[in-house]
Amino acid sequence: MATVSLEAVRKEYRGGVVGAKDVTLRIADGEFVSLVGPSGCGKSTTLNLIAGLEDISGGVLRIDDTVVNDLSPRERDIAMVFQSYALYPHMDVRGNLAFPLKVSGADKATIDQRVRETAELLGLEKLLARRPKELSGGQRQRVALGRALVRRPKLFLFDEPLSNLDAALRTQMRGEIKKLHERLKATFIYVTHDQAEAMTLSDRVVVMNQGEVQQVAPPRELYDAPANLFVAGFFGSPRINLVKPETLGLREEGVTLGIRPEHLEIGTGTAEGALSGRVYLVEPMGSENWVTVDVGGERLIARAPADFSVRTGETVWLRFDSKRLHRFDTASGRRR
Ligand SMILES: Nc1ncnc2c1ncn2[C@@H]1O[C@H](COP(=O)(O)OP(=O)(O)OP(=O)(O)O)[C@@H](O)[C@H]1O
Ligand SMILES: [Mg+2]
Repeated sequence: MATVSLEAVRKEYRGGVVGAKDVTLRIADGEFVSLVGPSGCGKSTTLNLIAGLEDISGGVLRIDDTVVNDLSPRERDIAMVFQSYALYPHMDVRGNLAFPLKVSGADKATIDQRVRETAELLGLEKLLARRPKELSGGQRQRVALGRALVRRPKLFLFDEPLSNLDAALRTQMRGEIKKLHERLKATFIYVTHDQAEAMTLSDRVVVMNQGEVQQVAPPRELYDAPANLFVAGFFGSPRINLVKPETLGLREEGVTLGIRPEHLEIGTGTAEGALSGRVYLVEPMGSENWVTVDVGGERLIARAPADFSVRTGETVWLRFDSKRLHRFDTASGRRR
């Protein structure tokens, strides 16, 4: 089991590009933590620093109580799963799973037992004699996971492990990774740019932008109380509406207001005490309709029931509960 702690950890690449700016983070034993954010925000950099694949430019990195700044990846007892996993093409599944154990000098009985247990855990029992090219994408991904699992490391690091899979398989594997974590009770650190993956998998989510941590919180808290405009805009589909107070009929200075699409009630025609606007776009999602409305020069999107019938150009009313409003300082972007 492993705890991981980063204190003002910094990575400056050659040429002065800062990949990670003073990242401070404590990850508890057995916790599932995701690093999420847009491309280039420093997720992989941070993960690679923890793994020991990159040298640290500043700060202190600990695994359990040991400062590991200068330890090699091998000395850190970590398993890493990448987006592009290279399985050994000439070895069958059994050989691929056994390989890390062979390298570490395990005896045959231990190898056989671990391979059997791992195959069972990942539903690979019937595939042990197949070569990678005789497997589907999802099965290959499972073998790659299995290869990380056999050594029973105390810490698992994942860098976008599902992004080569199609949408359906991705969702299925996502569930499997979550179940795996529940069974293993090991510490998982998981990099993704996918907000849904971060939300569904994690005990806590670390949101990054331009090398800096924006917020660290459980998924629900991130969604209900985003620390700044960036976090507010990153989570939620459709995106939160961020507008001037005047658009919502309010008077406040220096504030940007946020209202989630599910917190906007919508109806056709006009209604007393409600906002009025014209429908700009209707997007039927099957389970609901996303309706974009022009209101006083800004566009607001509302989630309406599936049977809400409306056309482009029609007049609609919008209502919201003021308790549902998010307030951000326009200049700093910070939550008020
Ligand atoms: N070896 C390197 N040398 C110089 N700059 C690098 C190097 N690796 C990454 N960077 C830069 O550091 C920043 C962070 O990169 P990083 O790979 O951590 O992003 P990321 O969040 O993993 O993005 P993605 O979602 O695209 O994988 C980027 O600006 C990137 O260009
Ligand atoms: Mg990356």
